[in-house]
Amino acid sequence: MPETSALLTPASIAGAAYIVAALLFILSLAGLSRHETAKAGVGYGIAGMAIALVATIGVVVSDAWGTPQATLGLSLLAAAVVIGGAIGLWRARVVEMTGMPELIALLHSFVGLAAVLVGWNGALEETGMTGALLDIHHAEVFIGVFIGAVTFTGSIVAFLKLSARMKSAPLMLPGKNALNLGALVAFVVLTVWYVITPELWLLVVVTALALALGWHLVASIGGGDMPVVISMLNSYSGWAAAAAGFLLNNDLLIVTGALVGSSGAYLSYIMCKAMNRSFISVIAGGFGIAAPAASSAEEEQGEIHEITATDAAALLRDATSVIITPGYGMAVAQAQHPVADLTAKLRERGVDVRFGIHPVAGRLPGHMNVLLAEAKVPYDVVEEMDEINDDFADTTVVLVIGANDTVNPAAAEDPGSPIAGMPVLRVWEASNVIVFKRSMAAGYAGVANPLFTRDNTQMLFGDAKDRVEDILRAL
Ligand code: TAP
Repeated sequence: MPETSALLTPASIAGAAYIVAALLFILSLAGLSRHETAKAGVGYGIAGMAIALVATIGVVVSDAWGTPQATLGLSLLAAAVVIGGAIGLWRARVVEMTGMPELIALLHSFVGLAAVLVGWNGALEETGMTGALLDIHHAEVFIGVFIGAVTFTGSIVAFLKLSARMKSAPLMLPGKNALNLGALVAFVVLTVWYVITPELWLLVVVTALALALGWHLVASIGGGDMPVVISMLNSYSGWAAAAAGFLLNNDLLIVTGALVGSSGAYLSYIMCKAMNRSFISVIAGGFGIAAPAASSAEEEQGEIHEITATDAAALLRDATSVIITPGYGMAVAQAQHPVADLTAKLRERGVDVRFGIHPVAGRLPGHMNVLLAEAKVPYDVVEEMDEINDDFADTTVVLVIGANDTVNPAAAEDPGSPIAGMPVLRVWEASNVIVFKRSMAAGYAGVANPLFTRDNTQMLFGDAKDRVEDILRAL
């Protein structure tokens, strides 16, 4: 029988802590899948990450203790944890709800970069391995660097597109599908080559190839598909972390990476179904999507009809049913509180007021639901797109508050439109549509919206919050 003290090594204690942390991460994912349990889910995640960090630091400290490099190594570790933690806390405190997707994209790029660095480190420091084990190590290095580099540049492009530092329209290089496929074939060939003769220049080539591929994959995807890209990059960052886990011989990183990788892939799949997009086409960088034909919506330049807040109030006063379809502009204007007041006021007067929520309205899943819940709009008047879409035809007034792509008739009626086939809220079927926005600018997908020139549409220009407050005063 081995002695108990021999069993209780720092590594074995960390191993046990990793199992507890992995279970907490699984509980966290389960909790996050429902409104009611989401808070508990976040708590499990924080607890799991705290345990994982303490266990990992414990192992590193016990390994390094007494060696000549210990002081330098441990000081670097402490500095990295303190500085990284401080920046993370600060960013999380100041980030606006509307800036969340771009922050997440940026964080994914760090995961990718870390996987590249871990891979390179594994290539430069391979000790004590021979035979098949060494071959497997080489394959791990190569695959880890590839996935990490694709995630790194892909996430940077996503960040640039989401923060409007780069145009959201898809990049249409000639033969883009062949380029992507060629890069994948080259990766497979180079991996085999590297396993047979592990020369460093091969690693340099695959790093450059993967950086270019990541950039091209995401640049080729149009603004309308961006929500899917974010969750797809989330999935890639998971696989990159899992690859790093194999290299570092860290079971928790492998489990966590696989959890993130598979849940991100599943979320992308659900979003593709909701937006009527081909999953394969989106994850393969818009594979098979041809450049859209000149869309008639782009050319359509009809006459617009304007309305004042006072006239809008009069229309609402006489209405029997009203549907409000909020979008990204409501979040920008922070108009949810006056919108909630308007809802309450109209309901007091006996008007039937409901909300129609598009699955990708705003900039992150559930964005509108969170804002409306914050403004204490009752849950029972907030309906999903599929529940409410058939009711627009019997509605007196629709208020489109800061939404654009999600109410664009071109998606349903113009096969040449870049967002053709994406399900939208059919607001134009109502008797009257009032659109709140500041200008005639296009929405996130950069596509013109023929709704604005329809006969039953009237534009109420200005900041959504100010205009809703004007209507409240007039009422
Ligand atoms: P968008 O199509 O983004 O349009 C928002 C509209 O709000 C713009 O036309 C803008 O027009 C207006 N606006 C901005 N600030 C305003 C203010 N202060 N007052 C009044 N209006 C204001 O919105 P949407 O319909 O919610 O569609 C969401 C888009 O984002 C989709 O293309 C979706 O694919 C994409 N996306 C979604 C997500 C998720 S998961 N929800 C993530 C990333 C991207 P003006 O500038 O003229 O005011």
